[in-house]
Amino acid sequence: MNEYELNKSTGEVQVVEKDDLKEFLDWWLENKITFPPKENSTIYQGDTFGVVLYRKPPFQVELFIVKPGKEIKQHIHPNVDSYEVNLAGYIEFTCDGKVYCDGTPVRVKPNAWHGGLFPKGGSFISVQKWINGVEPKFVGDDWVAHDGSKTYDESTKI
Ligand SMILES: [Fe+2]
Repeated sequence: MNEYELNKSTGEVQVVEKDDLKEFLDWWLENKITFPPKENSTIYQGDTFGVVLYRKPPFQVELFIVKPGKEIKQHIHPNVDSYEVNLAGYIEFTCDGKVYCDGTPVRVKPNAWHGGLFPKGGSFISVQKWINGVEPKFVGDDWVAHDGSKTYDESTKI
């Protein structure tokens, strides 16, 4: 839903696009409320461990820890809009061909190619909004990659 803003000097009404994912990110980072699902709240795949910290559709927060020397190959999540937030360690995060290393939350739009290098291991938080009516689940199960893998787990075995 959009909001409207009155420009008091011109009297014109402007449409302000509401970004509820950004609002959710700010709220969650400030409050860090945990609300994991009763089932399927952890994953152990390849060299990555994960836990769902919060799930209330369409929003979800997942925490991941990746072992040293590992790479998450370039991929997209067709049904997820997200922010990726570096929590600990040095991570070379790539999104749409740009490299991010400074820890600033990175917006990963649906269908944006992204991946990461973890030379010494690292941990990050994925703050997500699921779209197209798809229920939140492990984000690595909403996966498309150049190598043909359909899940993160598959990509670690190719
Ligand atoms: Fe991803």
